[in-house]
Amino acid sequence: MNIESVKAAYRRWARIYDVVFGPIFHPGRRHVVEALGAQPGERVLEVGVGTGLSLPLYPRGVKLTGIDISREMLDVAERRVERDGIGEDVEAIREMDAEAMDFPDDAFDRVVAMYVVSTVPDYHRLVREMRRVCKPGGDLYIVNHFQSENPVIGGIEGALAPIAKFVGFHPDFRMDHFLTETGLEAAEVRSVNLGGYWKVLHCPNPAD
Ligand SMILES: C[S@@+](CC[C@H](N)C(=O)[O-])C[C@H]1O[C@@H](n2cnc3c(N)ncnc32)[C@H](O)[C@@H]1O
Repeated sequence: MNIESVKAAYRRWARIYDVVFGPIFHPGRRHVVEALGAQPGERVLEVGVGTGLSLPLYPRGVKLTGIDISREMLDVAERRVERDGIGEDVEAIREMDAEAMDFPDDAFDRVVAMYVVSTVPDYHRLVREMRRVCKPGGDLYIVNHFQSENPVIGGIEGALAPIAKFVGFHPDFRMDHFLTETGLEAAEVRSVNLGGYWKVLHCPNPAD
């Protein structure tokens, strides 16, 4: 998948995204926001914020920034911020590549990627950037579906891999490979959504 195919996929999804992926993915979003425990005044970055479904879940006073590569997804997010009257807490909604962010180092207390790592062209670059913009000693939270260890389900997911470009994510994505390749250490892994088919990873950002 390259950035143009990601943009094309989410241009198609934007109008129906909330109906298709709103309620199904919401337990994971709620869990992350609760687990973050962000305090008023702290700065949280959501990479791949999409249509901003998670933004109203944060406690008031937490300073939120959302970025996404898809203009159409962000248009929906901006309308939500206005409609829900949370503009005071949302510092910025910006069109930006999460693999090459223009934020300075250590800009955020916590950095979150919900249902994003298997959609980006290069998750190594994504994680490197998430670490860079997160303060040392801060927290990274990642929610994603990883390929099942069940041979039958995992086999089906592997067979679906060729359609990744069209649907906008990789169904054959393994958690152990992801952690080893990025060097992330998960302090906690929780199962969420539909029978625990998705995982929430809490990865503290090591202090320098
Ligand atoms: C499955 S959606 C998740 C949206 C949202 N986080 C949620 O909870 O529903 C994945 C999002 O990641 C975005 N994305 C993919 N690659 C990206 C990149 N390199 N930089 C920024 N956003 C990206 C897509 O445009 C899409 O909006």
